[in-house]
Amino acid sequence: MAKLGAETAETTADASATSGVAFIDGRYCPIAEAKISVLDWGFLRSDATYDVAHVWQGRFFRLDAHLDRFERSMAKLRLQIPQDRAAIAEILHECVRRSGLHDAYVEMICTRGVARAGSRDPRQADNRLIAFAIPFGWILRPEERDRGLNVVVASVERIPPESVDPTVKNYHWLDLVQGLFEAYDRGGENVLLKDRDGHITEGPGFNVFVVRDGLVATPDRGVLEGITRRSALELCAELEIPTEIRPVAADELAAADELFATSTAGGIMPITRVDGAAVGDGRPGPMTARLIALYWDKHSDPAWSTPVAYG
Ligand SMILES: Cc1ncc(COP(=O)(O)O)c(C=O)c1O
Repeated sequence: MAKLGAETAETTADASATSGVAFIDGRYCPIAEAKISVLDWGFLRSDATYDVAHVWQGRFFRLDAHLDRFERSMAKLRLQIPQDRAAIAEILHECVRRSGLHDAYVEMICTRGVARAGSRDPRQADNRLIAFAIPFGWILRPEERDRGLNVVVASVERIPPESVDPTVKNYHWLDLVQGLFEAYDRGGENVLLKDRDGHITEGPGFNVFVVRDGLVATPDRGVLEGITRRSALELCAELEIPTEIRPVAADELAAADELFATSTAGGIMPITRVDGAAVGDGRPGPMTARLIALYWDKHSDPAWSTPVAYG
């Protein structure tokens, strides 16, 4: 299993590049210099989509799956950029290569761009691609990874999927951020949001899974179809653990044997408290531990990962 906990060192001689490299306006620059216009509708209206892949120990993890989702999201939002899929992949590799990072968080963004003066017509904006590689970041702090996350189920509802399609990865996070503040106020460290019917959806940057009597379930709708969620489901299949993708009622959390979150920013992560109460015995469970171990093992498997073109 890969070394977890302490982030591995970046192997770069260039200290100025250690915090990352961006591609913006057709050129590469240090991340600190990557700026967008305040008139870009990506900023003014959250009119953008994005995707986040990661590099672990010098290898991209499931980059194709991230590119598939990014292309699907752009098509659904009617965003078009001059770069094709191969060019996007090359830009991502180049950001990582130039950064020298071996554990990296690699983001690609397509914004609507700046509209013509006075125009409110989104068809008249030039859509643009931005990409960057920065050091790998975790949703959970090191102590939370060991003991599991303490979440609160917030009263604020997730934006309905009929309004904003959650399968398009997006920056409509006001509900999630308000939920986070509610969680902090109630003694939690992170948050899960319900939908209008009271079913669990997701948290800020992660999907959620419930383990009960050997069966693993995750919400079917109102969520981003996370690549790590897919990985967890595929790992369950490999381990012959039965899974269900279905509505998950809020009260299933308290009754669960184990809960875990999934995200590119950290992989599979135990949740051990919900609304102040312990999940199971209050410690990360054995099913979660098996999945975490296999997930990190897959990072060196050529079927799941590809080497970065460091040159
Ligand atoms: C709202 C939301 N749900 C779930 C996820 C997890 O998706 P993935 O596993 O592809 O990182 C993310 C990732 O940022 C997210 O923003």
